[in-house]
Amino acid sequence: MKKIITGGLIATASDMYEADILIENGKIMQIGKNLSAVGAEIVDATGKYVMPGGIDPHTHLDMPFNNTVTDDDWKSGTIAAAFGGTTTILDFCLSAGEEKLAAAVEKWHVKAKGKSAIDYGFHLMIGDLTPDTEAELPLILEQEGITSIKVFMAYAKEFQATDRTLFKAFKIAKDMGAVVMVHCENGSVIDELVEEAKLAGQTAPIYHALTRPAELEGEATKRAIELAHIAGAKLYVVHVTCKEALDEIIAAREKGYDVYGETCPPYLTLDQSALAQPDFEGAKYVWSPPLRPKYHQKHLWNALKAKQLQTIGSDQCSFSFNGKKQLGLNDFSKIPNGGPFIEDRFSILFSEGVVKGRISIHDFVDMISTNAAKIFGLYPQKGTIAIGSDADIVIFDPTVKREISANTHHMNVDYNPYEGWEVTGEPISVLVRGEYVIKNKQFVGELGSGQYIKRALKPTTAQTITV
Ligand code: URP
Ligand code: ZN
Ligand code: ZN
Repeated sequence: MKKIITGGLIATASDMYEADILIENGKIMQIGKNLSAVGAEIVDATGKYVMPGGIDPHTHLDMPFNNTVTDDDWKSGTIAAAFGGTTTILDFCLSAGEEKLAAAVEKWHVKAKGKSAIDYGFHLMIGDLTPDTEAELPLILEQEGITSIKVFMAYAKEFQATDRTLFKAFKIAKDMGAVVMVHCENGSVIDELVEEAKLAGQTAPIYHALTRPAELEGEATKRAIELAHIAGAKLYVVHVTCKEALDEIIAAREKGYDVYGETCPPYLTLDQSALAQPDFEGAKYVWSPPLRPKYHQKHLWNALKAKQLQTIGSDQCSFSFNGKKQLGLNDFSKIPNGGPFIEDRFSILFSEGVVKGRISIHDFVDMISTNAAKIFGLYPQKGTIAIGSDADIVIFDPTVKREISANTHHMNVDYNPYEGWEVTGEPISVLVRGEYVIKNKQFVGELGSGQYIKRALKPTTAQTITV
């Protein structure tokens, strides 16, 4: 079935122009003025932006964590993502201990299969490598088309790897042409600070933030940067929250190191005071690294504008307040870490970034889609509007205003950290490979229609464009 998108203003990371888009067999076949619509379904985009579908490089769907499991699975999570203008997610596949990496990846395929409404790929997380998993790692990356390894420098009880493992991951990634994504916080020192706080009777949610100071994010970021550099590997620092970490990333990039940085909507828009709210409300804002004092926000916005940070991930990791966040009622260290952002990532960045004049529409498209496609080996199949690319497209009304609320969102979680916020701009229709998933703000997609995307470890010229 052919479709033609007419009357819209195409906005990519580099250009803005009025043109029609002809879609056939899931691909963009033609872009131009007055294209023939014979035999094609018309998609009227008059007065709207036509943008590449969002690529969310950081999600945790149906993930066991902190003695529980995230509340959004591949069904609710990908439906919510689609409502929010996201057409591809890259989710973290966990592995542990002696388990074969192939078994870990298979487990993630089973979670997604028959449920995902949008396209997806996996990053492969490793804890400590055994001789067997170390030997298996390059093979599984190749076999599964996975171009990104994830290592945690925090969460000692669950995921934290040693510096030696981190260094090994960098070496393997360098040989394979992969990138290593690192959660940069000094987990061992944080655990000590958490113990100290608990011994002093400090149990409220705010102590989650106070025991994870920005200096420990900056220190770990610096360590990851130097280890990656010695190994000659590409480093992607996930969820950058503070000036301390940013300064290290900026200094490394100025020296020509291959370092990329991601931040997330809450670090740009919410601050540490949210954790100090009474009646345990602060627990709704517990994730790691934590929210920082407000002054860090301007440094993050400036770094986005200056292209020192490249992407916006949602870090979707949702736990309902009732039953899940409440596990830490008497002990902040038992509050499951994470928040629900997969749905509002696109709108928050557009409204707080583009509408408020902090970034341009082109920066926006870069951060919400194009740069992630380039860094993770999806470009130019995804992440742009070009002939031959997948027809992953968002028709976006930049003028409409909407109030964010847990009563109307589509995530399977009983609160929204942005409750009551008014945002300007909303995805009206969303297509994945030319098929509607959202049509006039209604979900019309099919669960299981999302495809697993194998990515290119040995990138083509287009994919190696530096960001
Ligand atoms: O608190 C968070 N961010 N939860 C998800 C796991 C991680 O660190 O990304
Ligand atoms: Zn993390
Ligand atoms: Zn995360």
